[in-house]
Amino acid sequence: MTRPEPTEIEHEVKKVDLIVSKSDAEGNITYVNPIFVKISGYSQASLLEQPHAILRHPDMPKVIFHYLWENIKQGQEIYAYVKNMCADGGYYWVLANIKMAKNPDGSFRNYMSTRRCITPEAKEKIDSFYKQLLDIEQTQGFEASKDAFYQFLEKNNLPDAVTFNNYMKQLNK
Ligand SMILES: Cc1cc2nc3c(=O)[nH]c(=O)nc-3n(C[C@H](O)[C@H](O)[C@H](O)COP(=O)(O)O)c2cc1C
Repeated sequence: MTRPEPTEIEHEVKKVDLIVSKSDAEGNITYVNPIFVKISGYSQASLLEQPHAILRHPDMPKVIFHYLWENIKQGQEIYAYVKNMCADGGYYWVLANIKMAKNPDGSFRNYMSTRRCITPEAKEKIDSFYKQLLDIEQTQGFEASKDAFYQFLEKNNLPDAVTFNNYMKQLNK
């Protein structure tokens, strides 16, 4: 599948929208709900079995996904702001909750993400924070952006995923 060229066209996520997907252990899509299909602009068939990175927007810093995977692999849910790219190159912002679901015997069942709209205030703050991280990533490399991200966590007293999640949820109120 050819990657679209990003455009400045923002797609609206409404307050009632709950954008849901599930994946296997590698992040390959196994389920999408109708609103996911609608907003992404891809058909359901072209999304299933594709990696979630099909939605990846080039404005997203790598370190956010790194932090996300570090946590969800251990069974720790994460709330993270994500700018996603649609099939037409447009974008939408969401606050995504991503977590692991387990089978009754404790084995891995799937990962599930539920995404909701974000406030203009949260968008402004996160957009500027992600721009800083991306700039560091592109000029000094991934490790430097990771350092900057961990400095942000330290400065805001977010030593673990629970405090991180609370901070991100609070920002969207
Ligand atoms: C359940 C689940 C949902 C995800 N949702 C998104 C998403 O909406 N957008 C996105 O860019 N990455 C999402 N990811 C993360 C991707 O798997 C991937 O790490 C990310 O797009 C970065 O891609 P890259 O590692 O190929 O650079 C999700 C992962 C999981 C497990």
